[in-house]
This record gives sequence, C-alpha cells and structure tokens, in this order.
Amino acid sequence: MAIALESETQSLKQRAAAKGLFFGAAARHRDLLSSQSLANSYIRECSVLVPEWELKWAAGDLPLRPNLDRFDFTRSDEMLRFARANGLSLRGHALVWHLSNPRWLRETLNPSNAEQLLTSHIRTVAAHFAGQIHSWDVVNEAIEVPDGRSDGLRNSLWLESLGEAYIDLAFRLTAQVDSRALRVYNDYGLQYATSSHESKRKAALKLMERLIVSGTPVQAFGIQSHLRAGETRFDAERLRRFLKDLADLGLKILITELDVSDQNVPANPSVRDRLVADAYREYLDVVLDEPAVIGVVTWGLSDRHTWLSGDKPREDGLPVRPLPLDENLERKPAWWAIAQAFDNAPLR
Ligand code: XIL
Repeated sequence: MAIALESETQSLKQRAAAKGLFFGAAARHRDLLSSQSLANSYIRECSVLVPEWELKWAAGDLPLRPNLDRFDFTRSDEMLRFARANGLSLRGHALVWHLSNPRWLRETLNPSNAEQLLTSHIRTVAAHFAGQIHSWDVVNEAIEVPDGRSDGLRNSLWLESLGEAYIDLAFRLTAQVDSRALRVYNDYGLQYATSSHESKRKAALKLMERLIVSGTPVQAFGIQSHLRAGETRFDAERLRRFLKDLADLGLKILITELDVSDQNVPANPSVRDRLVADAYREYLDVVLDEPAVIGVVTWGLSDRHTWLSGDKPREDGLPVRPLPLDENLERKPAWWAIAQAFDNAPLR
C-alpha cells in the first residue's frame, strides 16, 4: 500500500530522473513569481525552468535589450535566483530568433553592423549566465522551407544581413563564452507525417550536417513539439527515423516546448482531456524510446497560463486545456500520460 501511494505521488521530475531524463517547463516571470501555489507546482514537478519571455531580446515590459547599449537582466536574474534557490536549473531561450526583436534592432541592423551586434549580444548575455545555464537555444527557428531558398533557411533579419553564417557565428560565440551550457538548435513543425513537416525534417537534417561538417559547435537539436489533439497525420516510424538520423549525427535531442492544442476537438472537458492525453502519450512513447533524447520541457505547466489561449483559441470561447495541470494546478490525464511515458521509457 505504502509503495503504491509513493509511486502515485512521484512527480514528473522524479519519474524522468529515474530514467536518466529531465523534465521541465517554461514560465513567464510575472506568472511564476506572483503566485506561490504556481511556483510550488514548478518546484514540485520540474528540474528545469525556461523563461518564456525574459531571455528574448524584447518581450514583455522589461525587455532584455531596451536599446543598443543596454542589457537589462532584472527579470532573468530573478528567474535564475528562483531556480537556484529551489534546486532547478535554468534553460536559456533564445539567443537568436527572427521574432521578439526590438524595433531598434530591426531599424538598425544592416550587413555592416550585424556581426558586431550579434557578437556583443551573445558575448554579454551568455557570459552573464556562464556556468549557470543548463542549455541554450542558440538559434531558434532558422528554417522556413516555403521561403524558397534551396537550403530551406528562413529569410530572417539575421540571414539578410549575414547570410547563413549567422548560425555558425552564434554557436561559436556561445561556445567561447559558456562552454558548459549545452548548445541547442531549436525548431518547430517537425513531428507530423505532412509534406510540410517532411520537408522541414529534410532541411533540418541538411542544416545540422552542414554545421557539423563545418566544425560549428552545435551539440543538440530541440524539437519544440507543439502538438494537436485529434491530429491523425502521425507516423511513428517516420518520427523514429528522424530522431535516429539526428542521433546518428552525434546530436543529443531535447523536447523543448511540448504542449497539445485542443482547438479542434469536442467541447466536453473530459473528452478533450482524454484526446490531449492521447496525443502526449502517442508522441512521448516514440520520442522517449530514442536513447539520444535527454529530456522534456512543456511550454507552460498549468492551463492557467498558456500562449495557446491567444495563439490557438477555441471557436466556442472555452478556455484551452493543453498542459499537464489544470487551471487549479490539479493533475490532468495529460499529466498521467507524461508520467506513464517516463515510467515506460528505457533507462539512459
Ligand atoms: C511564445 C510565448 O509563449 C508567448 O508568450 C510570446 O508571446 C511569443 O512566444 N516558439 C518559440 C517560443 O520558440 O518562444 C514561442 O513562445 C512559442 C513558439
């Protein structure tokens, strides 16, 4: 009896750790640090915390990069302090991205100052946290096949100013200033058996190969994993193949932004919760079977705060339920699906 109770109360981080994996979640400073009960849920379930906004160049009311000359670490330092005080490690997201950039950057950036701007950003930010970061998303979302380039790279502000070399530069700089943080390339739209995901997988593998052949110090691949409940275009074998191809390149793999949109499934909350849980289970069963996968991060922890309420709202206006805990911080079927997936995962 005592044993059964203990296994029921084991948190996600404990179940993950029992297999040599980690579990974590993203949070915004203002949500996490204004609610003790929410903070307690993070402390209980997570061994890794990801600032959802606070390490982007500009997001929220106190941006990391208010202007060309300034770096404001107020919020990110507070999140680091929270993490360390409670035994979590902080995962950095993200040094280079085409979104959440300040207007001054978009207005200033040109081919003659871009290298200097990227260099000073990474040197300052990665150095500020050196030795204290679990892993850095060094480059986020650099692939966009529909942009029409033969290498599949996105026509981002950085690509326009520096060409594809901005990616190599970002990884090299990060390695120079913080050799201890695992260096991750992170992207989305990779998990389904659709033609757009298939072509993105191809482009991603091509990019990783190019980086590795050039000696660029990328160490891991982050699969964001924004899933959809009720999505039938899932092919376990194709996903396994992709994971294996990444692993064969010598890369570790992280699941970095897992959540399950319930935008297009029936309103009934228990039906929805079951379909969301099914999506978590189906996905994690495949992913955790790949030995190169080292951990899982959900993009938020409780349905109380999720980017999907703005990004993928339901037509009927009902609150979305994409995360492991409900709005009252109670464990949902999704939580149990993740828990079981960890329990069933092979030991690393
Ligand atoms: C999202 C945040 O969750 C939102 O709060 C913010 O407004 C925009 O960014 N891919 C990423 C994340 O890499 O940074 C995004 O996060 C979600 C999609």
